[in-house]
Amino acid sequence: MTNLLKLMDLSAKEIIEILNTADQLKFEKKNRIPHRLLEGKVLGLIFEKSSTRTRVSFEVGMFDLGGMSLFLSSRDLQIGRGEAVQDTARVLSRYLDGIMIRTFAQEEVEALARFGTIPIINGLTDYCHPCQVLADLMTIREIKGSFEGRKLCYIGDGNNMTNSLIVGGIKLGMDVSVACPKGYEPDAEIMKWAAKNGNFVCTEDVFAAAADSDVLYTDVWASMGQESEAEKRKKIFKSYQINDETMKAAKSDAIVLHCLPAHREEEITSTVFEKHSAEIFEEAENRLHAQKAVLVKCLRD
Ligand code: CP
Ligand code: NVA
Repeated sequence: MTNLLKLMDLSAKEIIEILNTADQLKFEKKNRIPHRLLEGKVLGLIFEKSSTRTRVSFEVGMFDLGGMSLFLSSRDLQIGRGEAVQDTARVLSRYLDGIMIRTFAQEEVEALARFGTIPIINGLTDYCHPCQVLADLMTIREIKGSFEGRKLCYIGDGNNMTNSLIVGGIKLGMDVSVACPKGYEPDAEIMKWAAKNGNFVCTEDVFAAAADSDVLYTDVWASMGQESEAEKRKKIFKSYQINDETMKAAKSDAIVLHCLPAHREEEITSTVFEKHSAEIFEEAENRLHAQKAVLVKCLRD
């Protein structure tokens, strides 16, 4: 049994294995090659926050793999009325073969894993978004062909996406730069680890961060749960945008990625978004293939 709680828990070799499986599953899906890798398995999907891509990719993914999924909104579960996560974990472990959970606190995901006896997959917390970054890395390799020495630049809020991108990028030998306003930096421990283990920079200077990048990445200025700060953040993050000027600082063949949903004219201009929409929607499609690879790794006996 394997959990996917955060990318820090995976070695570079394990990440590459997941990406290789994802590529293989993408090829099989495109060529309609059937398989039943998770025949008879049932995955529970607990959502305490909204989702389009994560929910649909895991549901379709389980179907493609010969299993099934149950969508469990916290609005309906007893967990939403205060039933202890320890009890939920022990009950659901008796019905299901795995759980994907999207929630606020990373600790809740870790607690599910501690008390449950089935694989737990992190579908996003305030701390990290490992499933998204596996799809991002898959997309980078698909388009750029390699990781070593390539530069990944993230512009915007030092949030869950940033934390996972730093870990994934550094583990695979990419140079990683982050541009964010003071006070909105990524997790301090992750930054310390990144500086020790690779080529990592965090700066307030968008153009310095973007210089010579192969991949430019951004995400919303206000994440789920930060809705009340949205107006304040619009002012603070105003200059932390991927636009034509930022693109000029990057390599001429740089790609643009966005985990989505996007807020056009906030973290990215419509012009840049549409110009790079082929990459961004390939990335969104790759959620399906990458999530299937995660499911195979975590749920297969
Ligand atoms: N990128 C991502 O996780 O999208 P959803 O919030 O729609 O699942
Ligand atoms: N940082 C965003 C990512 C959404 C996929 C959020 O947490 O809302």
